[in-house]
Amino acid sequence: MMEMPELLEKDFEKIRQLVHDRFGISLGPHKRSLVLGRLQKVVRAYGFRSFSEYYDYLLKDQSGEALNTLINRISTNHTYFNREPNHFAFLEEKAIPDLLRRLQSNKKKEVLRIWSAGCSSGEEPYQIAMILIGVLGLLDAKKKSAILATDISEIVLEKAKQGKYSKENLSNLDATFVEKYFAKEDHEKFAVKPFVKELILFRRLNLMRQQFPFKRRFHIIICRNVMIYFDTETKEQLIQKFYNYLEPGGYLMIGHSESLSHHNSYFKYVQPAIYVKED
Ligand SMILES: C[S@@+](CC[C@H](N)C(=O)[O-])C[C@H]1O[C@@H](n2cnc3c(N)ncnc32)[C@H](O)[C@@H]1O
Repeated sequence: MMEMPELLEKDFEKIRQLVHDRFGISLGPHKRSLVLGRLQKVVRAYGFRSFSEYYDYLLKDQSGEALNTLINRISTNHTYFNREPNHFAFLEEKAIPDLLRRLQSNKKKEVLRIWSAGCSSGEEPYQIAMILIGVLGLLDAKKKSAILATDISEIVLEKAKQGKYSKENLSNLDATFVEKYFAKEDHEKFAVKPFVKELILFRRLNLMRQQFPFKRRFHIIICRNVMIYFDTETKEQLIQKFYNYLEPGGYLMIGHSESLSHHNSYFKYVQPAIYVKED
């Protein structure tokens, strides 16, 4: 039987650097056992005897498959419905109604464009879609809004597209809300109803890209609990890109444990973890 490979310090350093350069994620020195735990089976499945051979393969593989598998294993994807509920209340009561009014008054027939960046398994964009349906009704939500949800990990994106969640994942939602937007599959599983799914486009996107492939700017960008894994420089660069990809008057929402550094940001603070790009 093949032995489990060990992760030597020098190989850990190389993998750490690669993950940082390609995906922005900073793995601290204390993350060695986490990396070992998450990658040991991968290294073995490829048939390599050491992390050093695996690392060489990561650099050599032109297909992108090896890096995809790496990020699928390394990224932390934990999320659930109604995480940090203040954001959803703000969207429902303030941001969405105000932005829709603005769009209506400037006669350009633009739709409200929302981007959930680092959407993981889809709970965040689905909840936003549900809020849009609540505010606008289904027909208008389809006509007047568009939600893009992106992540680097194909595995979570697949889960997101399936839209099936455990009872526990929904436990922060009201029962009436659950009844309206989910079909109960059995005692433990709930599926997002198809009419909600129609409002969202799921795509794979690396936030480390220099340029994003969007023709139009967004009215709301929500990127929560993603930048906590990035170092300050990477985070500042991403915030600058978010700024460029937001319409004037548009909102940026980040996780409550994250913050924007005040000197480097053109954003105006609205309330904890919510900022606006001034007109
Ligand atoms: C903890 S989840 C956040 C989910 C949700 N936004 C929330 O707040 O609950 C972080 C997500 O960021 C994604 N991520 C990490 N680095 C990324 C990158 N460079 N580009 C795009 N997504 C990334 C991970 O794959 C993961 O799904």
